[in-house]
Amino acid sequence: TEKMKSARKPDTGDSGSDLSEQIKAATSDIHVRAENTELMLTYQKGRISATQYKVLLCSLYEVYKALEEELDRNSSHPAIAPIYFPQELARLEYLQKDLEHFFGPNWKEQVIVPAATHRYERRLREIGRTNPLLLVPHAYTRYLGDLSGGQVLGKITQKCLGLNDSEGTQFFSFPAVSSPNRFKQLYRSRMNSIGLTEQEKTEVLEEAVTAFQLNIQVFDDLQKMLNVTTAEQPNAPRPPTALLSPTNVKQLTVGLCVAAVTIGMSIYVS
Ligand code: HEM
Repeated sequence: TEKMKSARKPDTGDSGSDLSEQIKAATSDIHVRAENTELMLTYQKGRISATQYKVLLCSLYEVYKALEEELDRNSSHPAIAPIYFPQELARLEYLQKDLEHFFGPNWKEQVIVPAATHRYERRLREIGRTNPLLLVPHAYTRYLGDLSGGQVLGKITQKCLGLNDSEGTQFFSFPAVSSPNRFKQLYRSRMNSIGLTEQEKTEVLEEAVTAFQLNIQVFDDLQKMLNVTTAEQPNAPRPPTALLSPTNVKQLTVGLCVAAVTIGMSIYVS
């Protein structure tokens, strides 16, 4: 089969003993898989719809809420303190503003997420309580991703949705990071300063793969949810930025509920 292409530079093979190099090597294959999910491919083709972006924001909100609350609670843990950068990295407030932009003051009541998002949240809560060290690969996966490919996704979102400046897309902006590349270097050196036994290092690398898997499952569930929604109205025109009329919001909500129930049931059945 044809090998999938990746925008990320291939790892050179010998990954050295630094955690930052090992974690990049360990997740290189699954990064390609993440890039090739339907949702991320739609992004790369520059065809993201307002609906896709809005459901993605809802899930990111729940994920970052769990991640950042657990990082805050464990901020003085010896493995977390070196990589704890709330000022530079915290996303939750921006996600709230973006959600408010699209859904209005009652946005909280309209946050709908699929089962995969709840699984991701549960994993973050569990390791926050039982093994905070494993929050390191989770923070790495999200924040370094946001500072890398995420920057391009922000521009695509603005363009596809016809948004001015950063309204609705504050999630992608890092006002306290002047150079994403230099910040990533700092972050890597902080990761490398964490003292780890071989056993701990193995666990961290495995959890990084899990973090990517959880993200992939969220993207796949969101796409399933949306496919159910759009399948219900096959003849409806699909303007690139629309779905904001009251009828469409109602149809979307009903569709998403049907999809959420369908996906929810499928886990209990399997
Ligand atoms: C459209 C989809 C995506 C594209 C085009 C993309 C592209 C990139 C690029 C160009 C880099 C930096 C290249 C380098 O320094 O070698 C990168 C790094 C990274 N990406 Fe992605 N990415 C995508 C999706 C994702 C997703 C879904 C995740 C995880 C949730 C992710 C996590 C990461 C991480 C953690 C890094 C940092 C790697 C390191 O330096 O250790 N990416 N990505």
